[in-house]
Amino acid sequence: MATIDLPLLPLGKGRDLDAERGVECPGDLPAASDPDLVERARAAKATLGDRLFVLGHHYQRDEVIQFADVTGDSFKLARDAAGRPDAEFIVFCGVHFMAESADILTSPTQRVVLPDLAAGCSMADMARLRQVEDAWDAMADAGIQDSVVPVTYMNSSADIKAFCGRNGGVVCTSSNADVALDWAFAQKLAGAGKILFLPDQHLGRNTAVLQMGIALDECVVWDPRQPGGGLTADELQKARMILWKGHCSVHGRFSEDVVDELRAKHPGINILVHPECTHEVVLKADLVGSTEFIIKTIEAAEPGTVWAIGTELNLVKRLADAHPDKTIVFLDRNVCYCSTMNRIDLPHLVWALENLVAGQVVNQITVDSETEADALVALQRMLDLPGKSHRD
Ligand code: 13P
Ligand code: SF4
Repeated sequence: MATIDLPLLPLGKGRDLDAERGVECPGDLPAASDPDLVERARAAKATLGDRLFVLGHHYQRDEVIQFADVTGDSFKLARDAAGRPDAEFIVFCGVHFMAESADILTSPTQRVVLPDLAAGCSMADMARLRQVEDAWDAMADAGIQDSVVPVTYMNSSADIKAFCGRNGGVVCTSSNADVALDWAFAQKLAGAGKILFLPDQHLGRNTAVLQMGIALDECVVWDPRQPGGGLTADELQKARMILWKGHCSVHGRFSEDVVDELRAKHPGINILVHPECTHEVVLKADLVGSTEFIIKTIEAAEPGTVWAIGTELNLVKRLADAHPDKTIVFLDRNVCYCSTMNRIDLPHLVWALENLVAGQVVNQITVDSETEADALVALQRMLDLPGKSHRD
């Protein structure tokens, strides 16, 4: 039976470095009210020069993203991290699983820093290695393990990526999930294969059904809290997609009724959502794609067009500010930031940079060498996938 092993420590209290959240904060941060924070960040960056490379995910706050040398979605940032072998320090303004991937993709002499260790991801926490190994054993008992290829979303811990590397699987992101599924199905002869998709059931289902033509009833959900995943051997044998019961707490908020409400209020509105949204919301949307896709779509949109965007609010607000010639609204009635992405703020960034200037590496993210070797196999398979997505 699956072991229930989810750390749910309140943010900032306690310490559990295996978890994607719930780790203690350092006590000596500059005050958020310090009027010199911007100047201090600039000065520290200038002192570190080319020794430093700052990566910023699109969901980061404005106060932080202004200091990023490159911005991107998780796929682009993984590639960018691998493309700067000369940088001694990689400061990752994003969340824990992204910093782990950067550590795996960079050389042992490069140091990856996450300015606040509590910047985890609740979705990544929904698949723990023990649970996934239990599921894998259950698939062996059901006689299907040999036909299953594990595919994990980038939004997973390094040990889940390593599990995929060890077991013939691959990592994917929201930019290339369809290409990764093509690759995974091609690993098993005569199309008889199945995919175990971790940890986001929505990205798995949306990609399988809307891009690969797999029927909804060929997708089943593995619930790690239920004996045998809550599935019968017959259901497992008939399934083509075994979706892990995980989701994003931010994208899971968008609802069909707000789509209906906005369509009634703004006739001709375009609904643009991220594939971490539920299948029902994606079905009601006009366009679906990764954060890079969302940005490119808005950049290419005609002036005067109206858009509702279903993704993290920092990005939606930045897009609205950058495109005053278009009307851009948020696809939720309430404020909907990713609370863990927002943990990285200017005081934490200044604290991390000034420590590097002083010769101290704080909040270094390191993946152990065994996990790293196996995870690299799965990450490299992703980086080697053909570039074209069905959406291009
Ligand atoms: P992408 O960066 O792959 O679009 O993923 C979105 C996300 O939720 C990152 O945490
Ligand atoms: Fe995780 Fe969702 Fe936040 Fe991304 S937006 S870091 S998937 S909780």
